[in-house]
Amino acid sequence: MGWGDTDGSNASRRAVLRRVGMIGGTAVVLAGCTSDGNASDDGDANDPDDTSQLELIHWWTAGGEEDALEALLDGFLEEHEEGVIEENPAPGGAGSALNAAVQSRLIDEEPPSTFQIWPGEALRPFVDSNVLAALDDIWSDDMREAYIDSVRELSQRNGVYVAVPVNIHRLNNLFYNVDVVEDVGVDPRSVDDPETLLEVFEAVADAGYTPLAHQTQDAWPTVQLWETVFLGQHGLETFQSFLDGDVDGLAEPVAESLSLIERYREHVSPDASSIAWDEANAQVITGDAAFTHQGDWAAGHYSSAELTYGEEWSHVAFPGTDGVYTMVLDSFVMPDPNPSPELTSAFLQYCGSVDAQRRFNQPKGSIPPRTDVPAEEFPPFLQDQMADFDASGDQLPTITHGSAIHPATKNQLEEAFASFLESWNVETTAERLLEIVGP
Ligand code: BGC
Repeated sequence: MGWGDTDGSNASRRAVLRRVGMIGGTAVVLAGCTSDGNASDDGDANDPDDTSQLELIHWWTAGGEEDALEALLDGFLEEHEEGVIEENPAPGGAGSALNAAVQSRLIDEEPPSTFQIWPGEALRPFVDSNVLAALDDIWSDDMREAYIDSVRELSQRNGVYVAVPVNIHRLNNLFYNVDVVEDVGVDPRSVDDPETLLEVFEAVADAGYTPLAHQTQDAWPTVQLWETVFLGQHGLETFQSFLDGDVDGLAEPVAESLSLIERYREHVSPDASSIAWDEANAQVITGDAAFTHQGDWAAGHYSSAELTYGEEWSHVAFPGTDGVYTMVLDSFVMPDPNPSPELTSAFLQYCGSVDAQRRFNQPKGSIPPRTDVPAEEFPPFLQDQMADFDASGDQLPTITHGSAIHPATKNQLEEAFASFLESWNVETTAERLLEIVGP
């Protein structure tokens, strides 16, 4: 597959977006909702029952993430001038606050028009609770033909489309500040495995920089670092066995990867426990830190900080994972019942278009899941990611970002990592991880 050259250009007009405050809500078991979202049609943005108002819950509130959402919504409003967008952010990297917020709205029988969700396993509880509309009609022939197959599969449950993906992020990245690695005299491209990366960290620390910008305030960045290190050390088959819960023979590899993370620990940001992921990433931007492991949403932030790819910041596949593209996808869905059915349908259709994916993915730091979005309009970094995607032998789902593992299991794994970040006990944590995924 490849990214084509269809021209999806469209004149740009700033749309006026109305923002409302952050929503609250605590984690609850998802139940069905039954209200029918009655609506008037007078375009009143303050009226929660207004069908011309699209309420969207998301967690993209800063840097390239915010720019990307704004670009998407601007594009939509250019085509749907009658629409009013009510953004309802639930900030927190990797959706750490969104799920609870959405669930409480569904339980209260006040579903939003749409919300951000990872395709794949993360959809399962919503589908099982019957709160998502089937989107087979929205998935036109044009979309079915244009989307990458693996992404189409992740958008369906039980053979029915329930989500419209807008992007493909990559998780197995190592980003770095070019001046810092040059000053230290290390070449990230020559690092072949996660153990050798530790030696590089030692050299960086000796030169007085933070080796690995990382946050531990939330567990998810360490879960994703672990899944990437585990893959880099032990390869695809072992990783797949873990996902399948086939844990025989995994005790040693899992302990080895945790033990390496424990050794990385002394090289992470000194303020790791009190910062958010984008604040850690900012340490690479300012040159206080050499490296960070993140999904390529981090690259969206380098662009919004106006750093030049290849000169000021650069990228390699995380050591040991060359040839693999660990995919993190974002999509939107249609809660059913829906407060603004027509506008929500129009929005989802727009999300599946060339124009939407062209606008959204460039600032987001991701590549389009449609293959006919003009590649030459994308910045060099994303063109390199597209080439890596095309060349990748394996495109994997992820544990941390919802596609590979049932949300309940993912939550348990996150809890195990939250304890690991306190105890740093490799043995107990390894046992716990295997117990969680095992039979
Ligand atoms: C999402 C990305 C987002 C990142 C950091 C991931 O789970 O898929 O869109 O940029 O989390 O918040």
